[in-house]
Amino acid sequence: MKTFTIAVIAGDGIGQEVIPATIELLEAAGARHNISFDWRYFDWGGDYYFKHGAMVPANALELLAPHDAILLGAVGHTSIPDNVTLNGLLLPIRRGFDQYANVRPAVLFEGVDSPLRGYKAGEIDMVVVRENTEGEYAQIGGFLYQHQPDEVAVQSSVFTRRGCERVIRHAFELARARNGKKRVASITKSNAQGYSMVLWDRAFDAVSKEYPDIKTEQLLVDAAAMNFVRRPASFDVVVGSNLFGDILSDLSAIVTGSIGLAASANLDPARRFPSMFEPVHGTAPDIAGKGIANPMATMFSAAMMLEHLQAREAGQAIDAALRATLAARDVRTADLGGTSSTADVTQAVIRNLR
Ligand code: NAI
Ligand code: MG
Repeated sequence: MKTFTIAVIAGDGIGQEVIPATIELLEAAGARHNISFDWRYFDWGGDYYFKHGAMVPANALELLAPHDAILLGAVGHTSIPDNVTLNGLLLPIRRGFDQYANVRPAVLFEGVDSPLRGYKAGEIDMVVVRENTEGEYAQIGGFLYQHQPDEVAVQSSVFTRRGCERVIRHAFELARARNGKKRVASITKSNAQGYSMVLWDRAFDAVSKEYPDIKTEQLLVDAAAMNFVRRPASFDVVVGSNLFGDILSDLSAIVTGSIGLAASANLDPARRFPSMFEPVHGTAPDIAGKGIANPMATMFSAAMMLEHLQAREAGQAIDAALRATLAARDVRTADLGGTSSTADVTQAVIRNLR
C-alpha cells in the first residue's frame, strides 16, 4: 500500500464544497488501487484572515514543504480585496515552490456541448501552459500619492530569459508527450510590449529549434482570443505569460463547455517542492453554500495530481469515471445544464469508478 501525504487547502466559497467531494472520490479510487492518503488540512483563507490578519501563517511554505502535493480549492472572499487573498496565499505558494508551469487542459468531452456550433467530442483538445512565477504577476511596483486625487501606480512585469525558456520547453515536451497535433502556439503581445515579450519571442525561437518534430505558430493575444473561438480545434499546446495564460484558460474552459470542468496543475517539474493541484475557477460567491457547484474541475485536477505522483492507474481511473459520468448525460450540475447537486455528481462519479 502506497501512502501519499497531501496538504489540503479548501479555501473559501465553493472551495469548501468541491474539496470534500474530491477527497471522497480520491478515497474511493485509492481503495481500489491500493493507495492511501494522509490528509493534512490547512484552514487558510478568508476566515483565517479575519482571525489572524493574514491569509497564511509566516511559516506557511515551511509547513507545506514536506507534503507530496497540495490540493487547493479556491481563495477569494467578498469582504477582502482580491489582491490581498491572491497575493497572500496563492501567488506565494506558486512562486515559493517554483511551480513555474501551470498546465490547464481543455477537452470537449463526450456528453458536453460546446457553446460553439458543430464540434464533436474530442475535436477540441488543447492545453494552455501558463508561466506561473513571474511575468505580469511578479508584484513589483508601488503607489505614489496613494488615496489622493492624483495618485499614481506603477507595476512592472518581469520576464527573464531563464523563466521564458523553461516554461516554453515544458510546453514543447508536453506537445511531444501528448497524443495530439504536435503543435505549440506561443502567445504574446510583442508588437506593443516591445521589451518583455520580444525577449519571450527570442526564447521561443531558440527553444523551438530543439524540437523540429513540433509545428509552431506565434500569435498576438488578441488574435489568439479570436482564434480560440474561430478555430479551437487547431490548437494543441498553447504557451503564454502569466496574465495571458490566465485569461486564455478561462476562454478555453468555456469553449469546451464549462469552467466547472477546467482543471489545473501548478508544477515544479524539477520536483524539488510539492506541486499544487486546483481547479481553474474561483470561489463562485454567486452559487457558494448551495451545494450545486460542479466538483469535476477539482476532480480532474486530482487525476492530474495522481498522474504527477506516478499513481497513473488511479489517476486514469478517476479521469475515466469523470468522462463516463459526463457521457451518460444524466447526472450533472447547472453549469452543464443539469439540476444535480455536488453530492449527486460525486456519487455518480464514484459509481463509475472501475
Ligand atoms: P469564479 O470562477 O469564481 O466564477 C465565475 C463564474 O463561473 C460564476 O458565475 C460561477 O458561479 C461560475 N463557476 C465557477 N466555478 C464553478 C463550478 N465549479 N461550478 C459551477 N459554476 C462555477 O470567478 P469570479 O467570480 O471572477 O471570482 C470569484 C472569486 O474567486 C474572487 O474573489 C476571485 O478573486 C477568486 N478567484 C480565485 C481563484 C483561485 O483561487 N485560484 C481563481 C479565480 C478567481
Ligand atoms: Mg484565472
